[in-house]
Amino acid sequence: MARTNARFVCQQCGSVHAKWTGRCEGCGAWSSLIEELPREAPPQGLAKGRGGRPLGFVGLTGPSVLPPRRQTGIAELDRVCGGGFVSGSAILVGGDPGIGKSTLLLQAAAAIAATGGAAYLTGEEAIDQVRLRAERLGVAESPVLLAAASSIRDIVASLDRDDAPGLVVVDSIQTMYLDTLDSAPGTVSQVRGAAQELIRLAKRRGIVLILVGHVTKEGIIAGPRVLEHMVDTVLYFEGERGHQFRILRAVKNRFGATDEIGVFEMGDRGLSEVPNPSALFLAGRARPGLDVEEEEPGGASAGQLSGSAVFAGIEGTRPVLVEVQALIAPALLGTPRRAVVGWDGTRLAMITAVLDTRCGLSVGVNDIYLNVAGGLRIVEPAADLAVAAALVSALTKTPVPEDTVVFGEIALSGDVRPVGHTEARLKEAAKLGFETAWIPLGRSTSRGRARVGDTGLTTSPIGHVSELTTRLSAKPRALRPRIRELAQ
Ligand code: TYD
Ligand code: MG
Repeated sequence: MARTNARFVCQQCGSVHAKWTGRCEGCGAWSSLIEELPREAPPQGLAKGRGGRPLGFVGLTGPSVLPPRRQTGIAELDRVCGGGFVSGSAILVGGDPGIGKSTLLLQAAAAIAATGGAAYLTGEEAIDQVRLRAERLGVAESPVLLAAASSIRDIVASLDRDDAPGLVVVDSIQTMYLDTLDSAPGTVSQVRGAAQELIRLAKRRGIVLILVGHVTKEGIIAGPRVLEHMVDTVLYFEGERGHQFRILRAVKNRFGATDEIGVFEMGDRGLSEVPNPSALFLAGRARPGLDVEEEEPGGASAGQLSGSAVFAGIEGTRPVLVEVQALIAPALLGTPRRAVVGWDGTRLAMITAVLDTRCGLSVGVNDIYLNVAGGLRIVEPAADLAVAAALVSALTKTPVPEDTVVFGEIALSGDVRPVGHTEARLKEAAKLGFETAWIPLGRSTSRGRARVGDTGLTTSPIGHVSELTTRLSAKPRALRPRIRELAQ
């Protein structure tokens, strides 16, 4: 009997090696190779002209049928998927353990079960645990078909029927196994093989298949990365521990846009939608017009702190306002510390370099802490100007006026570049009570203050980042009365 040659598969990137090595040559990860037996003999080379049917080529135009969609009624989820789940498609939901994937998907299954049928297959939790959660979520009465399963053979046998449920949730793909493979559940071959079988079933029966995938740091268990190519849609469920906000983000979608986010709040009865994220992200901040603030003797109002700027961003199709907070402290050790939450560290390095070089400030020598409040992760370059404003404000100890929102991209020259969706950003800011916007100086915005028609906001264009320093230069603060007061 021919001996099947073992092969070594990187659990990080899936590349195959003939020999074990400590480091994967494909992706450079250490100790990531695991021995796996090949599924079948390597395919024979296809001899020219043998077998195979000729393809019927068609033109780029022609009748096309849009696939039917199933809506869950959870608007934030439907929008991220491009208007509901597409029948016969596979969706991968990735995220850290404990972030709320099982909760979200049980809620989605319960919402859809009555109309289209839904099955929830759990390989991680016991039936009782899922039932308890359903009770907590208030969906225990929903006709969801629940099963504890991990064998793909059993799952396919039970679902390959004409009356298969319209939605199947598999929680999680790492716990599923295919008995035709020798490797353990969770290895790349098992994850890939199991997903392949399930996706084939979904396409055949028009099922919406949702696969849950864990993202692990070490990559010992195959992360969902290898799956991303196989599925139609990849959603990431993210959030900061300790914050109740959760953000569902589409990173790949064959049936919709990929820059949409859905915002949820985790409460004691599961996830609830947040239709107006700006108000949520700015909660806790003294909102303009709402709080009457006491004047400090020095002139700055007591409720206003330096080092904070409100960024008017766009997430997908929706404007979202968030607060960018910066703290600058003298560096005690040789290399200044940088700690960034919710933004790109490299981008921060760029902004500090621009501020130092083009504005003659010395930001870079200090320890810098940057935080996007509320647990949102910003990827837009339009946040540059807001970050710069927060940094300059922290450095000069001058607050950015609290009724002001900021956005604009900063070039290495220090020029502030125009960004898209200006009107949507301004409208959202106006809706939340802001009155002024520091925006890029562009073709449509002239220098000097101007009211932008129907948004009701006063815009104040900035052409070069150095203008921030004149706007936020430390005003001489009359501290004496305060000192006298303290001395008494
Ligand atoms: P879960 O959906 O099990 O996360 P995942 O499947 O991504 O691992 O959610 C786990 C967390 O959510 C857990 O820490 C408890 C919390 N939670 C609530 O706060 N409220 C709720 O109603 C539920 C069901 C969970
Ligand atoms: Mg779970």
